[in-house]
Parts: sequence; structure tokens; C-alpha cells
Amino acid sequence: MYYHKILVIGGGLAGLRAAVESAPRADTAIISQVHPVRSHSGAAQGGVNAPLANNPAGKDDSWEKHAYDTTKGSDFLADQDAVEFMTSQAGPCIYEIEHWGCPFSRTDDGRIAQRPFGGAGFPRTCFAADKTGLYMLHTLWERSVKLDIPLYEDRVMVDLVIEGEHCRGVICLNMKTGELEPFMSEAVIFASGGSGQIYARSTNALISTGSAQAAAYRRGVPLKDMEFIQFHPTSLYGTNILMTEGARGEGGYLINSSGERFMSKYAPKAMELGPRDIVSRSIQTEINEGRGIESQYVYLDLRHLGREKILERLPGIRDLAMNFVDVDPIEKPVPIQPGQHYTMGGIDTDIDGATKFKGMYAAGECGCVSVHGANRLGGNSLLDTVVFGKRAGAVAAEYVLAKDEDKQGEAAVMRSLGETKERIESLLSRKGEENHSDIRDEMRESMFRRVGIFREGDGMKEGLEKIRELKERYSSVTVQNKGMRYNVDLIRAIELEGMLDVAEAITTGALKREESRGAHSRLDFKERDDDRFLKHTIATYSSEGAVIEYSPVTIRNFKPEARRY
Ligand code: FUM
Repeated sequence: MYYHKILVIGGGLAGLRAAVESAPRADTAIISQVHPVRSHSGAAQGGVNAPLANNPAGKDDSWEKHAYDTTKGSDFLADQDAVEFMTSQAGPCIYEIEHWGCPFSRTDDGRIAQRPFGGAGFPRTCFAADKTGLYMLHTLWERSVKLDIPLYEDRVMVDLVIEGEHCRGVICLNMKTGELEPFMSEAVIFASGGSGQIYARSTNALISTGSAQAAAYRRGVPLKDMEFIQFHPTSLYGTNILMTEGARGEGGYLINSSGERFMSKYAPKAMELGPRDIVSRSIQTEINEGRGIESQYVYLDLRHLGREKILERLPGIRDLAMNFVDVDPIEKPVPIQPGQHYTMGGIDTDIDGATKFKGMYAAGECGCVSVHGANRLGGNSLLDTVVFGKRAGAVAAEYVLAKDEDKQGEAAVMRSLGETKERIESLLSRKGEENHSDIRDEMRESMFRRVGIFREGDGMKEGLEKIRELKERYSSVTVQNKGMRYNVDLIRAIELEGMLDVAEAITTGALKREESRGAHSRLDFKERDDDRFLKHTIATYSSEGAVIEYSPVTIRNFKPEARRY
């Protein structure tokens, strides 16, 4: 049995930042499915928000204004104490990672450069060309190497060990050996990203399956606000690879089949830099009403920015467009459509990242603290990872150092190991008719179509029935590959069970929320309804389906108002 005082599950930005914070104070190890520099944080392109006021057009920016923009962007569902904490810590956290070596792009006088982003009153998005997440990730990875933090890679976390009110560790599948490995700890920090793969047309990596959310949920940790799914306005038509919002921040246009800059109809002031929920709906409306191209996409037009700016500021998306659709944005407009991008909801935590179980924390996209509410502003997710990763790391370290006794969880970890062994053996020995990849494809299509950019009650009811049908069929899934080394067939089958649970929580929450707010846009309930639904959705697992309750939203300075852009 492995033992560390703190286990961080996930080697992306939130996980690395948490580990870098806790490791100097308490023995900490990172468990990751992929090498940390291959985590999905590396796909984040356009930047990270902090009110540094470095751009002349942003000289009057402040953390309070950042807090207002974030809260309004969230359609007033974010908890304002958490938002205040995040925005007030943004500057210090960005300077900290800069001092650790993150190569941000620069202004002419050498300060961190900042570009405009959607839903923001000022240009406050710090960036490193269009590979910001990747550079931040490498910086934090180097920091973790400097601190000599142990890394267990190629491990898929398959169970969370809960005993009474305590979290005792996790069970992992070692992909290299095929063995199940028990990890005991005093605290666990989940930081393993979102669940984008539940949807067709996602910008997310294949590893973004919501495995941590699913494991926590099955073990009684509630999920919060899962119905709020972000669709990024500009994913590349065909592959749905992200085409950064930074492209519009640098001045890119969205145009329909007639060459019209259609955002003037939907967000006359903000235009292409409206918040993502509004821009995605606008694009989809253009497509649905026949003003798209081939009924599938519109164009992101960067030609007027000129070669020099595109090469300096947007080299990554230029390469992607050239490689995947054979379009050089210097010469031609890029075909784009909205794609699933982010889960605003996640494991229910307080402002410290703490869950209802002692010693269990979550940070980054897999958690919900909640700073993004019903719609996240671009550039706030990288910020969330470093601010709340750091905080969860600090709080977990304090918790384990204040604990009287260590290693209380051995029996619980071994029990969980036994249960997981049985579960996997039973999966391997099944001789059913079903293939997990068919079930996964059907789930993804159904979620995109029925619980997507626009929703309505009957469609979501069908979506829920579909999930239940798929769950039923899952019990007949056969894993063809019976080997144990790098058995991706087995791993995909294990993941699918959790994905179906998470999809059920998303759909049930969405069906019960009879209003439109942020990214949850219902054709049968078009208005926001603060009287009935200014509250967080809390989903608890039961074998019959998600049990939905609600909890209050923390409102401080910003009273809910109409969102106009
Ligand atoms: O468009 C982007 O570069 C994505 C940024 C984000 O999701 O925050």
C-alpha cells in the first residue's frame, strides 16, 4: 500500500498548483493518468485574467471591476465571496507564476501584455501568444520537479475511499501493469478536470471524462450546478479543436454566409466580445435560421489583422487551422461552430475547496467553488486553477498537520480495493452483446442534441430516458481485450459507467431548472427566474437517479440585474 499525507489527483494546473503549495509543508504526491505536461490544461490558449492594468485601455481596472464582470458573466449565480477572493488574488497569483518563469507575452515597456476577452469591461487577459495554458503548465511542472514532488503517472483513479465522515485515500489502476493499487492518505485533493467527453463536439481532450466527479458522486459527495455546460463559440468545424477567444480579442470578426458581422444583432456594444453563452447562441441561431455555411458553421475572419499580428499573437491557431482544415487564416476565414468546452459545475466545495467529507478537497474544473455560476468568462478558468489550487493545497496541508493521528484508513482502503477488484473482474468476465464505444457515442450525441446550447423540457426528458436505456445496456458491455497492460478497452469501459452517472446528474438538474440562466437556455422557459431559481443545484447520487436539492447563492455587492452587452 502506498502512503502519502496528501494525494493530489490530476497533474494539470490546479493539481500542480495545489501540490506546489502543500508539498513544502506536508508529504504530498501527485497521481495522474497522463504525464502532467500532457494534461488538458495545456490546451488552454487565449489567456488568464488578472486586473493588472498594464494595457493603456485597462488603466482603470481593479479587482472589484473584475469581480463585477465575473458575477454578471455568471448570470448572478456565482458565489460572490468566492469571486471576490479569486479576483483579489489574481494579480498576486499571476506575478507569482511569472516570477517562477512563465514566459508571458510583453508590452513594449516589458510588462505582462493583456488583451481584451469576452464579457470583460477592460483588457485584462494576460497571455503567452495563444499557448498560455501550456506555458503555465510547464512552469508549474518545473516547480514541482524542483520541489521533488513524487509523481505516480499512468494511473487511472477508479475509486475514492470514504469511511464515515473521513476520506481515506483512493484506488488506482496502474495502466502499465494492470494492477489495482491502494493509496492511503490523510487528505485527497481532486484536480482532474472536467467531463467534456460526455458531449459530442467537445474541445476537450479524451482524458476529460469527469472520472473524479463520477467517483466522488458515487461515494456520496454531491455535485453542484452540473446543468451549466459551456459551449465555446469558436471551435474548428470538423474536429472542434479550440480556436481561441483571443482571436476575437485581437480584433477577429464573426461573419455569416452573407459576410455580415451578425453579432451587431445580438450584442450591439460588445459585438464578438460578448460572453460565451450569448455568442454561442448567436452563432447557433445564425446556423439554425439558414445563415450558416452548409448549415453547419460560420466564419471567424482574421484576415484584416494582418500577417504580422497573426504570426505574433495567434501562431498556434494558425497552425491548427492549416493542419486540420487546410485554411491559412492570413488568407481565408476559418470555419467554426460552437463546441462543448467547460463544465461550470462540479464537486460541491466551499471556498477552501473542502467537500462534506473531512480530508477531501477539489479544485479547478472538476470542482465547483462556485466562481463561474451559470456562465464562465474566458480567461477565468486558468485563474481559477491557480487561485483555488493554491488555496486547496494550503488548507489541506493545515488540515493534515493539525490531525492527531495518521494512517487510520488502512482497513477502509483495503475494503475498497476488494470491491474495486470485484467490479473490474465482473466487467472483464461479462459476455454481453454491447460495445462501450457505441454506448459512449450515443450518449455524446444525445447530450449534445438534447442538453446542448438550446434545451427544452420534452427533449431533456427524452435525454434522461436515453441515459437510463444506455445504463441498462451498459450492464451487457463486453470488454474484448482481457489483457492487463495498457488495456484501454477496459479503461474506456470503466470511464463510461461514471460518464453516464454524470450525464444523468447534468440532465436531471437541467430538467428541473425551469428558467434560462447563462449557458442553460430553455426554449420553454425563456426568462431568468430569480424568485424560483437564484440557487445552486445540488445533485446527490442514488441508484434510482440524481436526487436534486438546492442551496443558496452568496450575494454581496452585486444584486442581480439584467445582462446587457
Ligand atoms: O478561448 C480560449 O482561449 C479559451 C480560454 C478559456 O476557456 O478560458
